[in-house]
Amino acid sequence: MTGTRKLPILIARAVFPDVEARLRAHFEVETTPAGVVWSQDELVQRLQGKVGVLTTGGERIDAALLAACPQLRIVANLAVGHNNFDLAAMSAAGVLGTNAPDVLTETTADFGFALLMATARRVTESERFLRAGQWNQWSLDLFAGAEVHGTTLGILGMGRIGQAIARRGAHGFGMRVIYHNRSRLDEATEADCRARYVTKAELLAQADHLVLVLPYTPEAHHSIGAAEIAQMKPTATLINIARGGIVDDAALAAALRERRIAAAGLDVFEGEPRVHPDLLTVPNVALTPHIASATLPTRMAMAMLAADNLVAYLTEGRALTPLNPDVIKAGP
Ligand code: 8YV
Repeated sequence: MTGTRKLPILIARAVFPDVEARLRAHFEVETTPAGVVWSQDELVQRLQGKVGVLTTGGERIDAALLAACPQLRIVANLAVGHNNFDLAAMSAAGVLGTNAPDVLTETTADFGFALLMATARRVTESERFLRAGQWNQWSLDLFAGAEVHGTTLGILGMGRIGQAIARRGAHGFGMRVIYHNRSRLDEATEADCRARYVTKAELLAQADHLVLVLPYTPEAHHSIGAAEIAQMKPTATLINIARGGIVDDAALAAALRERRIAAAGLDVFEGEPRVHPDLLTVPNVALTPHIASATLPTRMAMAMLAADNLVAYLTEGRALTPLNPDVIKAGP
């Protein structure tokens, strides 16, 4: 740093004014106008000379970008998921990555349950029918959906958000909760969530409502495809609030059309914000634009946590939620 000049950082996607102000108190900040999403080349250009950047899950931080931005020292993701980071490349380049866990757990679990309810009880499908002026008489089975209370809730991926969904199901809706995860939870956590560990095959076969909350990794790609859907009950619903790519969207659209499962609720998509065109034409799917953590207090908390990570690392050499803490130990 020369003289008293503040360190330069980039905010790669527009954030709230309070978050920007927090960063401006410490750094020379280049912002991104609302509504703008940089291409990878534009992002690299804007990162020239910057030591830090606040990203969303939509900016890819890979070896090529790191090589083109040698001054970069920290990338603070405004998301708990960090599949947009090549963490190995970041560690090799001495660049710290941070994410935004915990502050979104309960809000995201609320939405997971909202989407489960909307899907099982056909809320969006029946609203489309009503708005289209098709409602001209009441009938006994009009938009009859699937029962939620007292049924079996299956959860694939039992981290913090999965556990929060389990508690809602078990304690709020009297559901029998089963889960599958890379590692089994300890007994106390299982008891608290009233959740029982099962194999993936058992989960698929037994769940009335299957909620996906696992992180996206190469191994998790298409965890749910045609073969897995074939193992589910024909009356089951599938909810994806995890990441696009965990579900094979084309296979799911085909299964929904043929009623091989009853319905799906999707907040995330392969290649979003594009949505597989077949999903747009099947009726038994509720679609939302990646909003599971979207309440203003939660989005503010996520953005502030990302900002706090930038401030803590660049001014004090520490971080609140580091993903590759070895970079901190190795020093600048
Ligand atoms: C983010 C998310 O809002 O935290 C995550 O992993 O998927 C969402 O809560 C989104 O990724 C934008 O950063």
